Amino acid sequence: MPAILITGANRGIGLEFVRQYADCGWRVIATCRDPATAANLRGLAGAEPRIRIEALDLASPASIDALAGRLGGDLPLDVLLHNAALLGPGGSQLLGAWEEAPFLEAFRANALGPALLTQRLLPLVEAGSQRKIIFLGSAAGSIGLLQPPANLYAYRASKAALHLIARNLALELKPRGLVVGLVNPGLVDTRGLLDLAPEDPGPPDLQHLVKLVRAGVVPLIRPAASVTGMRALIDSWTLDQSGVFLNYDAQPLPW
Ligand SMILES: NC(=O)c1ccc[n+]([C@@H]2O[C@H](COP(=O)([O-])OP(=O)(O)OC[C@H]3O[C@@H](n4cnc5c(N)ncnc54)[C@H](OP(=O)(O)O)[C@@H]3O)[C@@H](O)[C@H]2O)c1
Repeated sequence: MPAILITGANRGIGLEFVRQYADCGWRVIATCRDPATAANLRGLAGAEPRIRIEALDLASPASIDALAGRLGGDLPLDVLLHNAALLGPGGSQLLGAWEEAPFLEAFRANALGPALLTQRLLPLVEAGSQRKIIFLGSAAGSIGLLQPPANLYAYRASKAALHLIARNLALELKPRGLVVGLVNPGLVDTRGLLDLAPEDPGPPDLQHLVKLVRAGVVPLIRPAASVTGMRALIDSWTLDQSGVFLNYDAQPLPW
């Protein structure tokens, strides 16, 4: 039975990854910041004993060390799936509102945390049979795809840093037989906007986006479709493709 560790598993794309991998018979270590409040994840784990929930805050090196200690050396990991990320509020990321804290929070959660977690869990991945480390990157962190409006500076810059870490790791780990993948999930509807009734304006912070989705300008896809595409990619990712940046539908993306 293959094993996977998924970060940020309590909601959004991470929760869908847990559902699909568990449905396919994988052992899933599903991490989240606060297992006590992760109701949807606990619901899945209650019905499926192959899902094990573990606490992990990527912004805390102590939390990363504690997780590695709890996992010990006894569990080979076939796939280490770095899904979690902090988007952060948009307002504090606009030029004119910049301060140190939001940038540091984004870099800790989105770049430094995944790097430290990879370092700590590398022996478990090397002991697995598939030996894959997959990062969820973002088109928003691609310099080649940047276009106005200029926003989300902390999120975009921290994702660009993650992209570089993934590419660099791929170069270093290829001779050791480890595959490193970077995948963009597409524009995924993790807030249920596609299911809003026509007269429902949606959440106050997303009403502009709801209008664009309804106008067909922002082509959102459902989490299940994105995760199905990404799982197929992860399954077929070879050592020769280590270090490439792919969209969920297998299209190569610019850095
Ligand atoms: N949705 C999209 O359209 C889209 C597009 C491009 C890329 N992505 C990428 O795809 C991945 C999943 O996106 P999503 O839309 O599912 O995100 P989401 O709904 O915002 O969920 C983010 C997850 O990351 C967790 N997280 C945040 N900070 C963390 C930290 N310090 N330590 C541990 N976990 C932390 C959150 O936990 P809490 O519940 O505790 O906050 C949550 O589980 C992310 O890497 C994102 O950048 C998404």
